[in-house]
Amino acid sequence: MKMEIPNIESSRLVLRAFKQSDADDVHALLADGSIADTTFLIPKSYTKEMAEDWISTHQSEFEKRTGVTFAIVLKEASKLVGAISLIRIEEDHQAELGYWIGKEFWGKGICTEAAKLILEYGFRDIGVLRIYARHMTRNPASGKVLQNIGMKREGCLRKHLKKWGSLEDIEMYGALFEEWKDDNH
Ligand SMILES: CC(C)(COP(=O)(O)OP(=O)(O)OC[C@H]1O[C@@H](n2cnc3c(N)ncnc32)[C@H](O)[C@@H]1OP(=O)(O)O)[C@@H](O)C(=O)NCCC(=O)NCCS
Repeated sequence: MKMEIPNIESSRLVLRAFKQSDADDVHALLADGSIADTTFLIPKSYTKEMAEDWISTHQSEFEKRTGVTFAIVLKEASKLVGAISLIRIEEDHQAELGYWIGKEFWGKGICTEAAKLILEYGFRDIGVLRIYARHMTRNPASGKVLQNIGMKREGCLRKHLKKWGSLEDIEMYGALFEEWKDDNH
């Protein structure tokens, strides 16, 4: 039986599986390059074919239990505004959180709301014991999202990543199930 990526809802958002028909929207959201600038995996010149290739990996990663990626959709407007994932899932252990939101939708609390949903999904449904995230030090908005969802800063990896020829300091954050469950029962 095919395993389905679930829908997860809050009052304002639905997290759902990407469809190939989302590729135009993904391309439009990533076209201006400001998301590529502070993410680890998104290339600067992003084409519709890249969006299609990326979307085509989601189902098999989910079936292999190595990752789960959700489209972030504004429920009322049925508008795709971003993506949120748990990647590098290690069974009974941990996973890495990653996300992006289209620039015109920044600063409305959307990522914080989506990240709360996926944290709960990771701990309650996937069953990992630790969820971690990393962001460039020069991207404090991402750090604020992680603080908003209760993650703890674990340190800074200095000049850890080479991005477009520059060495970047990386902030590490983590949440432990044993701590999260006390605040979310
Ligand atoms: C990081 C990102 C996902 C945040 O999405 P968002 O929906 O705007 O996030 P939210 O609105 O939930 O929260 C952003 C928080 O950062 C704060 N913030 C924004 N810019 C900031 C800055 N320069 N310095 C400090 N805090 C900042 C906001 O005030 C908000 O804090 P609040 O919750 O106390 O009001 C979005 O900016 C983005 O997609 N950036 C490009 C891709 C990226 O960097 N992804 C993360 C890779 S690690």
